[in-house]
Amino acid sequence: MKAEDLTLLNARSQTLHPSAIIDLALELFPSQLAFANSFGLEDVVIQHLLQKKKGAPESFVLDTGRLPAETYDLIERWRQRYGTTIRLISPKPELLEPFVRKNGPNAFYQNPDLRQTCCAIRKLEPLERALEGKAAWITGVRREQSAGRANATFFSLDHKNRVKISPLADWTLDAVWAYVRAHDLPYNVLHDAGYPSIGCAPCTRAVLPSEDIRAGRWWWEQESQRECGLHHKPKEVKVHAHPSV
Ligand code: ADX
Ligand code: SF4
Repeated sequence: MKAEDLTLLNARSQTLHPSAIIDLALELFPSQLAFANSFGLEDVVIQHLLQKKKGAPESFVLDTGRLPAETYDLIERWRQRYGTTIRLISPKPELLEPFVRKNGPNAFYQNPDLRQTCCAIRKLEPLERALEGKAAWITGVRREQSAGRANATFFSLDHKNRVKISPLADWTLDAVWAYVRAHDLPYNVLHDAGYPSIGCAPCTRAVLPSEDIRAGRWWWEQESQRECGLHHKPKEVKVHAHPSV
């Protein structure tokens, strides 16, 4: 998609409800769209909006194997309440096993390189498989989530020129909660225990009310490094199916 088309779509989306932005995405990419669902608060809103649509795209979870038990419980609650079908995508054993054998199960605490390699194996490579044959994907990114996301647009291009659609880009956290409460949506119980942003269990902690939303993600690293590469690349990480990873 050309830059001027993105600009037009973003201008048009400014006055649209997220549901209408999703309609636009479905119109543009009828069978080439997927939804990356981490089951965070934003994602349950999007999942709820999507489930009402005809021809709703596939929802997938990057199942790193280290997600909190509460996240798996939430997936199960959605399955039971709404019959939601979710594709869970696991890391490739041929990448993960040598990495863990060499560096141990908690390698991410040792240094930023190992942390990013872990994210590359458990999240980024599986994302590529999730998006095979897709031209666009939906995410729950919001501008308010961090300084690095302050310029997030409704429609953008990812590092592989796929269109990334963030229908809640301009929503506040209060607006997200209002939607969740109005529709009585099942949400992650960790949100009530001080976790506004939830990733893998060992890499997420609760935050104080005075701290920012993402302060509990990879909290031992410098703020500028605290992304896994799904939305911003802290740096290029290559993964090889070789014991030296
Ligand atoms: S992250 O890059 O720091 O992990 P964050 O947790 O803020 O991202 O989530 C932002 C969006 O990325 C989510 O709304 C979702 O679209 C996508 N996402 C993040 N983690 C996952 C996951 N494990 N599975 C599927 N999508 C995910
Ligand atoms: Fe590994 Fe932590 Fe990244 Fe999850 S968030 S993939 S456990 S480094």
